[in-house]
Amino acid sequence: MNITNIKDTWGSIIELDTPEEFFTYSPDYWRKLSYERKLIFFKKVNFTKAQYSEFSFYFGQPWTSDEYKYSHEVTEEVDTKNGVQAISPFNNANTKMVSNAYMNWHSDIPNRDFKPYPFRSLWITDNPTPERSGKTSWMNLEESFQYLTPEMLEMIPRVTVCQQSWYDPGTDTKEFPLLKIHPITGAKSLRINHYNWGPKKGAWITDVKIDGVSQGHCFLIRQWTDYLQKIPDLIYQHQWNTNDIAIYDNHSFIHSRTALTFDPKAATRHFFRININHLDDQEWVEHKKKYLE
Ligand SMILES: [Fe+2]
Repeated sequence: MNITNIKDTWGSIIELDTPEEFFTYSPDYWRKLSYERKLIFFKKVNFTKAQYSEFSFYFGQPWTSDEYKYSHEVTEEVDTKNGVQAISPFNNANTKMVSNAYMNWHSDIPNRDFKPYPFRSLWITDNPTPERSGKTSWMNLEESFQYLTPEMLEMIPRVTVCQQSWYDPGTDTKEFPLLKIHPITGAKSLRINHYNWGPKKGAWITDVKIDGVSQGHCFLIRQWTDYLQKIPDLIYQHQWNTNDIAIYDNHSFIHSRTALTFDPKAATRHFFRININHLDDQEWVEHKKKYLE
């Protein structure tokens, strides 16, 4: 196995000698590495679907079929050593909400009452034109504080963000502090996400309050996202090759994707996805009591 670091403190690319080599390391090893590096790519992993499901258990608790109903992600059931498991297939032709278009900076599952911000894993199994099939970028929000201006740092405790369901806008509205705490590492990060702007009202963040006063717009989130995306140390952009697997700590990042520029009628790129909870039920209850109530 060969590990190459993307940045000094986060991001790694792993080349396994064989796909099966992954399973010769313990779940403790992979879990520790995933919290240290936060974003890991495995190259040339031609797993079976069952192996990909089993891989997910090394990082936490993979979602059940029922949990995917929350995020409107379709599932496929796979027979594995651990019983029947759900994985979520998707491609640019059947993902109507985003399709081939540019995808804004966002983080997934930020609004769920129960175990929000799961780990996300993506396995690309078909990618006909890598240079034209969209590049995904990650922005590390845990490392952003060192780059914020004194004025921005002073603002943090005064700001709350209002969120809604991206799946069903206008429902599930909630308000959160701008600062969030990682359920495992305790690391702080900013609750930046896809925000409403102009006539488009379907994003996660709908409004910003400063000192409890509604701003009626998301200018602060827009300004901070634009500022942070210009800092190279916070950004990694990935061009996908077939059989890359990414696993990333969705709590620590926002991510975006450039547009897919191939003809969608002539080609599709295909992924499988797995969401993985950081905590078991008891650990979640304790985390909630400590930080969220
Ligand atoms: Fe996403």
